[in-house]
Order: sequence, then C-alpha cells, then structure tokens
Amino acid sequence: MKLTISVIKADIGSVGGHTKPSARMMAAVEGEVAKAIENGLLIDGFVRHTGDDIAIIMTHTRGEGSSEVHQFAWKTFLAATAVAKTSGLYGAGQDLLVDAPSGNVRGAGPAVAELSFDHSLSGARPAESFMVFAADKCGPGAYNLPLYLAFADPMYCAGLMLPPMIKGFRFHIIDMDNTAGDSVIELDAPADGYHIAALLRDNERFGIDRIVSKTYGEVAVAVSAQRLHSIAGKYTGKDDPVAVVRNQGIFAAPEEIISPFTKAHFVGGDARGSHVMPLMPVPLNTPVTGMYCLPIVSCVGFSIDRDGKFSESYTDFFDNLAWDEVRQRAQRKAIEMRSQGWSGAAMLPYSELEYGGFRDTVSGLLKRFRLREEPKPQAAE
Ligand code: 13P
Ligand code: 13P
Ligand code: MG
Ligand code: MG
Ligand code: MG
Ligand code: MG
Ligand code: MG
Repeated sequence: MKLTISVIKADIGSVGGHTKPSARMMAAVEGEVAKAIENGLLIDGFVRHTGDDIAIIMTHTRGEGSSEVHQFAWKTFLAATAVAKTSGLYGAGQDLLVDAPSGNVRGAGPAVAELSFDHSLSGARPAESFMVFAADKCGPGAYNLPLYLAFADPMYCAGLMLPPMIKGFRFHIIDMDNTAGDSVIELDAPADGYHIAALLRDNERFGIDRIVSKTYGEVAVAVSAQRLHSIAGKYTGKDDPVAVVRNQGIFAAPEEIISPFTKAHFVGGDARGSHVMPLMPVPLNTPVTGMYCLPIVSCVGFSIDRDGKFSESYTDFFDNLAWDEVRQRAQRKAIEMRSQGWSGAAMLPYSELEYGGFRDTVSGLLKRFRLREEPKPQAAE
C-alpha cells in the first residue's frame, strides 16, 4: 500500500492571549478527525497542540497534496475557529489566511508536511516508525540545524557510518523568499555538505523541504518550509514549522534525531515574532506561559501497523527528565539574550521584523531623515 503521512497545523485561536487552544477547540478537532476515520477518508489521526498551534497527524492512501485531506483539515480548522470566536479567544482563525482555498491548503496559511512510501513492512522497512516535530513562536528554518546535524554529521548520528546510510542523504532546500512558487535545490550530503551549510545558515530564507536516502531513494524527512509573511504580505504570527521524520533501520535512530535539540539553538521568533531566542524542547500540549514567549518544539513518535494505523500508544520524546536540563539551559540562554533587550543580535534585523508595526515605526522615521548640508569650503583669502 502507498501510505501518506500528512501533518497539517494551524494557529486558530488561544486562551488568555497566545498561549494554547481551548479544550473545546481541541475536542472539536478530535471529533472531526474521529468522523473522518469512521467515514474512510483517513486511516488514522492524532491531534495535539504545541503552544497555541493545533496539529493534525494523519495517515491515508490519498497521496500528498490530496484536496480531500487538505479540505478536511481546512474545514476542521474552520470549525475550531468558530468555537474560538464563540468563546472570544485571541487570534481566532489567525492562520487561515485566504477565504476558501480550492484543494491544497499549502500556501493558504496552515503548515503542511507530507511524505509517502510503499508500506509493505518488508525489505528495507520491516517496521515503520516516525516522529513529528511541531513548533510554535519560531521562524520557518528552525529545524535547519538539528536536521542537518542528524542527517549529515556523524558527530550527532554515528549511524551515518553504517552501510545503509554511508552514501548519505539528499537535501531538498527551498528558497522561501521566492514567492513565484517552490524554488528548490537538491544537494547531497556529505559531498555537498558545505554548500548545504552555506544555505541552511540563513534560517529565514532557506529551509529544508525534504531529505531522501541516497541508498534507498526513500524519503526520510518532510518539513513545512513556508513563510507566512510571504503569503500574507504582512505579519500574521510566526511560521512555526512542522516536520515528519521517519526513523530507525535505514534512517537515523530517535536519539540521533533529537540529540541536536540539546543545543537549544537560537532561532528567530519569540514575542511578536521579532526576537532571537533559544528553541526549547517541550512535552506535547505545552502552553506558552514562560517569562518570555520562548520558541518551543514538541516531538511525538508512533509506529504504524500493517493497515496504516498508529500504534495504540505514542512516545512523547521531550517529556523526560533528561530534557529538563536542556530546558533550564534554554531558559538561561534566554535570560542572557534578553538582558540586552532590543539591541543588535537580540532582535531580528529590519528585513525580518515580522511584526509590521516595528517596520512602520522605522519607515516613518526614515521619511524624516535629511541629508545634512556639507559646509561650503571657505575660499582662500
Ligand atoms: P535496543 O536494544 O532497545 O533495540 O536498542 C538498540 C539501538 O540500536 C538503539 O539505537
Ligand atoms: P503565534 O504565531 O503563535 O501567533 O505567535 C507569534 C507571536 O507574535 C508571538 O508574540
Ligand atoms: Mg498565536
Ligand atoms: Mg502559534
Ligand atoms: Mg521570518
Ligand atoms: Mg504562528
Ligand atoms: Mg529495543
């Protein structure tokens, strides 16, 4: 069976400011997902939130970009938006940027990551397991560094030295500034490793879109790499990417994939989408309530049975004492960075200030700049 994993996530309203969706919103989404499984649209589905973003994780056989699956997600988010509006929640429907997308919702606001594979539970994949990362309050390239380290650096993934992975992985990298369409380059690690790094260092412009095994041609990773402000033309909340990552066997093991997140690396995001702050790994369904508005990321893992259904239980990767140490460090890094307030590296540069108002403030001032008149040189007596 050709199985597709689709993850579609949207920020459609939150309680008490931009913290988390309400229980009624979550119940509305879960109810729609249960119906879609019952009527055969989906094989399986799982709903969780990260900060105030709700992610729907689905398996089905309709392929990537399926208009039925995408329309289902859109309508489900609309239903939850209606709940958010009734309760007067903040930012109701925020990520639903267009009126009614026809078919695919990529480019309409929600974050979409999808990948497909032949699900036969034989050959290179006698068992199928995967993880889903979901972030809130952060920029689109938040996974650039951790996924590069997991799929191109044996210091993080010693498994790269094993025969199934030693030929490396092909990185599909998207130029998120190109609004004409998906502008993608394919580069191989390790051969083109430095070229890959040269692009991925710019988290705001270039993002990993996909990573594919060189040996097996199997897709390992799919990421939603799109910028909301490129779609909407104005600030509409942070991009908050999702990623699907298949693991074990011919791919990296879970610990090889999550260990780069111990860095709590600095990303664009945080309050008003305009600061540079550390990415904190958090358990599923964590609200954003810290002293700042830290970029956060969650990670859930599933196995998939013969019929394409998720295992009856899941793994919440960052819900572990070991990650408390990282969370503490992220908090310390955050305090250090915020101690310099608005100055220099602590906030995003002008071109990336996602909160339109900051830019308006500066643009207004730019209009008031005047060229100073050079004093005329005095003629010699
Ligand atoms: P297990 O012994 O639990 O299978 O773990 C081995 C392993 O290779 C972990 O990556
Ligand atoms: P959201 O993307 O969750 O709305 O957060 C963005 C933001 O501006 C936080 O202040
Ligand atoms: Mg929000
Ligand atoms: Mg959000
Ligand atoms: Mg940006
Ligand atoms: Mg957002
Ligand atoms: Mg074992």
